[in-house]
Amino acid sequence: MSADQFIPVCEPVLAGREDQYVADCVATAWISSAGAYLNKFEQGMAALCGVGQGVACANGTAALHLACAALGLAPGDEVIAPAFSIISTANAIVQTGATPVLVDVEPDTLCLDPVQIESKVGPRTKAIMPVHMYGHPADMDPIMEIAGRHGLAIIEDAAQVHGAAYRGRPLGGIGTMGCFSFFANKLITTGEGGMVVTNDESLAERLRLLRNLAHGRRRFEHEELGFNYRLTNLQAAVGLAQLERLEEIKTAKAAIGDRYNANLGDLRELTLFWGKARPKASPVMWMYGLLLPEGLDRDRFMERLRGRGVDTRAFFLPLNRQPLYDGSRRGMPDLRGSFPVSEDAGRRGFYLPSGVGLGDEQIDRASQVVRELLAEG
Ligand SMILES: Cc1ncc(COP(=O)(O)O)c(C=O)c1O
Repeated sequence: MSADQFIPVCEPVLAGREDQYVADCVATAWISSAGAYLNKFEQGMAALCGVGQGVACANGTAALHLACAALGLAPGDEVIAPAFSIISTANAIVQTGATPVLVDVEPDTLCLDPVQIESKVGPRTKAIMPVHMYGHPADMDPIMEIAGRHGLAIIEDAAQVHGAAYRGRPLGGIGTMGCFSFFANKLITTGEGGMVVTNDESLAERLRLLRNLAHGRRRFEHEELGFNYRLTNLQAAVGLAQLERLEEIKTAKAAIGDRYNANLGDLRELTLFWGKARPKASPVMWMYGLLLPEGLDRDRFMERLRGRGVDTRAFFLPLNRQPLYDGSRRGMPDLRGSFPVSEDAGRRGFYLPSGVGLGDEQIDRASQVVRELLAEG
């Protein structure tokens, strides 16, 4: 197999005005953490989400941490969050001193199961953190209802869902704050990057303060703990050019999902996710995820795919299974527990090549290899 036959899991495509905008930053020397592209990118993302404020930052993990810190979370506080997620969601909560309280996810969307939230709400609960997983919205109506009734904030993790909606409302703009990632595998990328969007001006002010070391009334005088989570104008220049092409990117990604579905839809032993949106949901195709049948070794299957030129990524290891949170580490919460849907997805799930530049021939070849390996058992 030659290198050009290898199908990478995801490669960014910078096919718009990225080079023009970056060249402008270089020519004008606006390369650091202020500038017109930062302002336009923040305003553009806020507008995409139907809210007033966007606060760009270093990455999606930093966005989640900033959101938790801006809420004033502190030791003793609890945040309800899904067991099936990237470590960033739990870490963001833990870094404020608060404790994540895990809830299992729904089998058909892999998003926070609203039915299981209520029993976890207690006097210490301050927020709910739904994670919109693999392009599909969490079921926000019941989540909003529970949050409203108990006076809880909602931090949406919208890292994987740029441009998706729930009941016509853009994700990221529904909760108190929405957090995005612009890592290289996201629908919009800045290489590394993140943003918190919100309609709450005072929260936005706090997010900006905390993003930049929390300088006090006098610069270099500090009354609280801040971070350097700034994004650069150079990165925002790339982000703005990407944002301008979001509709095109969404359409191309959806076509990739549709083609995989056409190729693999008859394989009853696979659990597929794309194209099964809930009626209220308008998802985006972020990554083409699937679950292998029970009894097949997922990691070995991925190795065999790789051996035949198809790159993949395993689904997240659920948070209740993370060594960091197994109760043995000093100062870290014990998040162990039984979350069968999360554990099952974490064990059987992976995603196929899904980059926006993928050609039909590559999708067909990746699908064909999946078929062959399943037939071989
Ligand atoms: C759901 C989710 N949240 C947060 C993040 C963290 O984003 P970043 O890699 O930009 O820190 C990711 C990254 O993939 C993610 O998928």
